[in-house]
Amino acid sequence: MSIIKNDFEKMNITKIKNFKNKKNLTMITAYDALFAKLFEEVADIILVGDSLNMSFAGKPDTLSATLDQMIYHTNAVCTGAPKSFVVLDMPFGTYINKNEALSNAIKVYAQTNAAAVKIEGGEDRADIVKHLTSNSIAVMGHIGLMPQYVRSEGGYKVRGKTKEDEEQLIADALAIEKAGAFAIVLEGVMSDVAKKITDAVNIPIIGIGAGNVTDGQVLVWSDMLGFFENFKPKFVRHYLNGAQLVKEAVNQYRSDVQDKSFPAKEEEY
Ligand code: KIV
Repeated sequence: MSIIKNDFEKMNITKIKNFKNKKNLTMITAYDALFAKLFEEVADIILVGDSLNMSFAGKPDTLSATLDQMIYHTNAVCTGAPKSFVVLDMPFGTYINKNEALSNAIKVYAQTNAAAVKIEGGEDRADIVKHLTSNSIAVMGHIGLMPQYVRSEGGYKVRGKTKEDEEQLIADALAIEKAGAFAIVLEGVMSDVAKKITDAVNIPIIGIGAGNVTDGQVLVWSDMLGFFENFKPKFVRHYLNGAQLVKEAVNQYRSDVQDKSFPAKEEEY
């Protein structure tokens, strides 16, 4: 199979904002140098998501990820994909007020090459986003279904099912745009409402579980490549059956070791 080289260009926040109504943004998560290198010239944005706490660390949700973990993984990603626009997800509890948020974001900028940070929250967190952007931190918002609210909300709930929630989501998007975010992740929202949100703002809306009406898409790499087997949300498409392929390969290795067909003569010194 040939590797398709696309028209990759290194991103910055101005280029990303200019994608609005022109080209769909492709964003994917990565947590390590190896996979980041594979995604480098394909994805417009690499997100070091706190989803690593689930898919990498095996935890039930994202809440116990720490800033030091995020910094460690972001450094690995930036090393593997130096040309990529890398966004670090600020983990739960690291932006509980404006001052904490700013000192933690400064720590991220000082210790990694991340181009931006991502923050979950709408109108309720707009003052925090504003404080960061007015202190030269590039911020990507995240509204709709917000995984860091899973325990306080009592589960992962699709948003935008009522008129009231639709209005709240539009208000959230407008507040985060006004606070200076350069793009917003919109997760788990009814697609007709996602369309209204996308039309309401002038910055790109990057959807996940929000239909094809947004300005781009983001997927967690271990979901889209079929490595994460615990559950498959409706919005995930498997582009590879990764778990099955790895199991078959490791079984083959075991069998080759057992019957001594590995290593072969040409694999010897
Ligand atoms: O943590 C993450 O990977 C995310 C994506 C689901 C957008 O926030």
